[in-house]
Amino acid sequence: MSNQAKRAQANHPILDLLADRWSPYAFDPQTVEEEKLLSCLEAARWAASSYNEQPWSFVVAKREDETEFPRLLDCLLEANQAWAKNAGVLMITVTSKQFSRDGKPNLMAEHDIGLAIGNLTAQATSFGLFVHQMAGINRSKARQTYNIPESHEPLTAIGLGYAANAQRDQAPRSRRPLSEFVFKGAWGTSR
Ligand SMILES: Cc1cc2nc3c(=O)[nH]c(=O)nc-3n(C[C@H](O)[C@H](O)[C@H](O)COP(=O)(O)O)c2cc1C
Repeated sequence: MSNQAKRAQANHPILDLLADRWSPYAFDPQTVEEEKLLSCLEAARWAASSYNEQPWSFVVAKREDETEFPRLLDCLLEANQAWAKNAGVLMITVTSKQFSRDGKPNLMAEHDIGLAIGNLTAQATSFGLFVHQMAGINRSKARQTYNIPESHEPLTAIGLGYAANAQRDQAPRSRRPLSEFVFKGAWGTSR
């Protein structure tokens, strides 16, 4: 569903793919085609990462899977379950905490899974699909449900699917201006 009201009102030109991305609360419970889902995951696969560690994993459940979808939905906080239950696909994102090369902590793991999810989101947007990420998950439940080892950390959930029309999704989007976060010479001095 294209939604002009949600399109980024950019002060400088940006790619349509970026301007048209937003996070819907109202998902249309239609199936996400398997080949589109695979392309989204493939896009995540090709993200950059520190030492090419690729410290990301995704536990995936499609809506039509009557066993796995409710199991994954149950790992979300209730407020997120209320809307995420209509997403075509749900995922739990998981980082690996140590570098495989030397066992040292990978302080870039969360950064790098964010890049991978950014890739996934751009690919999804190109298909007319939408992504809504969630910090609001029950991490210990996710760990228990999927036997996630201590070497890995459940981080977020992702709702992926087609957007439906809804009142809650009409609110305009806002962002801080560049002057508040792009500096020159000294912290807090905008360029
Ligand atoms: C890491 C992350 C965690 C988020 N967690 C939640 C969440 O638990 N529940 C929710 O409703 N939205 C969540 N969001 C969505 C944000 O609220 C949303 O991206 C933000 O308000 C900007 O809106 P936009 O994505 O439509 O531009 C999350 C987004 C990110 C990137």
